Amino acid sequence: FLFAQFSSAVDIISAIEFDKSGDHLATGDRGGRVVLFERTDTRDHGGSRRDLEQTDYAVRHPEFRYKTEFQSHEPEFDYLKSLEIEEKINKIRWCQPANGALFLLSTNDKTIKYWKVQEKKIKKISEMNIDPSKAESSSSPPQLVANGLPADKAHGYLSNDFSFPPGGIPSLRLPVVTSQETNLVARCRRVYAHAHDYHINSISNSSDGETFISADDLRVNLWNLEISNQSFNIVDVKPTNMEDLTEVITSAEFHPIHCNMLAYSSSKGSIRLIDMRQSALCDSHTKLFEEPEAPGSRSFFTEIIASISDIKFSKDGRYILSRDYMTLKLWDINMDSGPVASYQVHEHLRPRLCDLYENDSIFDKFECCLSGDGLRVATGSYSNLFRVFGASQGSTEAATLEASKNPMRRQIQTPARPSRSIGSMTRVVRRGSESPGTEANGNAYDFTTKLLHMAWHPTENSIACAAANSLYMYYA
Ligand SMILES: *[C@@H]1O[C@H](CO)[C@@H](O)[C@H](O)[C@H]1NC(C)=O
Ligand SMILES: *[C@@H]1O[C@H](CO)[C@@H](O)[C@H](O)[C@H]1NC(C)=O
Ligand SMILES: *[C@@H]1O[C@H](CO)[C@@H](O)[C@H](O)[C@H]1NC(C)=O
Repeated sequence: FLFAQFSSAVDIISAIEFDKSGDHLATGDRGGRVVLFERTDTRDHGGSRRDLEQTDYAVRHPEFRYKTEFQSHEPEFDYLKSLEIEEKINKIRWCQPANGALFLLSTNDKTIKYWKVQEKKIKKISEMNIDPSKAESSSSPPQLVANGLPADKAHGYLSNDFSFPPGGIPSLRLPVVTSQETNLVARCRRVYAHAHDYHINSISNSSDGETFISADDLRVNLWNLEISNQSFNIVDVKPTNMEDLTEVITSAEFHPIHCNMLAYSSSKGSIRLIDMRQSALCDSHTKLFEEPEAPGSRSFFTEIIASISDIKFSKDGRYILSRDYMTLKLWDINMDSGPVASYQVHEHLRPRLCDLYENDSIFDKFECCLSGDGLRVATGSYSNLFRVFGASQGSTEAATLEASKNPMRRQIQTPARPSRSIGSMTRVVRRGSESPGTEANGNAYDFTTKLLHMAWHPTENSIACAAANSLYMYYA
């Protein structure tokens, strides 16, 4: 189900995230905008329930509609380093809601911002009782002071030509502030700047509700949400001599339950789990997760394709899902000998790695996500395809789906079932029947259309996928 499509390059979606309840979805784009969507099919919506009863679907799918948007980041120029800072939103993370307001963190390459989105009543001034036609007929105007402003400033509020009619005004209506309408207002509560020398790749809020981390290529910093002028450097992989640099940080995330634990991934394909209680600067990890290289498999591309582009904890914190260029891997945090499951995503591209390197496609950073129940995992690919796998051990469940460029076509074909919005997702490969080398729909893979960003709904089997400037909701 395609529910949002924008049209220019700045509209290309660069971040996507559900909030904890699953009632809100946020996207960030290259133009520095954050767009919020809200769920509309809440339990007590009589209308949508009736619609559903009319169809033969036992499962209700969450439906979302556009809520609001705001400009989170603007292009900047760092004069000190003579660098242009793009407004592109790299990551969005929702924080604890409070008093009916939503809170979220958004970041570009350098600056993190904390936003509060709240309904505000619009103040409107009711009309005053000055009839301009009457006022014009009068002479020798007395200088009035309106709202405490001197008459020259009050011009525009009250006519300067106003004079009291003989016998005075029968009734004087004072301007009254009326407020019937409400509007969503996004306010920037904090700006956390100047703490990263390299590009920020991740932000993650802690389960303590008070702190968050931000990670760049070489460092991870810890912040208190309320304090924007200081952060604590908790991981630093910068070598004394930059020529010795062999590994960079690619992604970082807080453990969903233990606020003292966090994980970060590297360009060498490893994941480190650290415990902040052990030392202030977490130079030594608590656990290292790495897969030993298969003997004889080494090639020029080995290190490039080993780089982890994204990691995600499962909801219970027991597992970590990681995505590298070729595979998706599931790790049990109690087992550091190797992943508990490995899923081939791009194995069919192995013979073409040279071309993919030539045009930089090999550096594309695909995200991954787990279902709320932890039973399935998903990640994106080229030609707007994404793959969903069963996460339980020994599961061979696999499906390749397409975030279609032409969703309307399918929707028109099934007019009798309007609520079955699944129409936009074309199942191109049947369960488990992967045939490497064959190409989707018989067409050549399109390396310019790639599905990098996706998020699984926390409680429903729905995946939000961003393909260029289109946002799709797939009901798994
Ligand atoms: C982040 O904030 C959400 C509230 O939206 C909270 O439920 C969650 O525990 C926080 N931390 C993590 C690691 O998810
Ligand atoms: C941060 O700002 C607060 C309030 O303005 C100030 O009291 C504090 O000294 C500042 N801290 C640093 C590290 O600059
Ligand atoms: C990258 O190379 C592949 C393989 O040759 C080609 O099909 C694709 O069009 C190229 N992509 C871009 C973005 O140039």
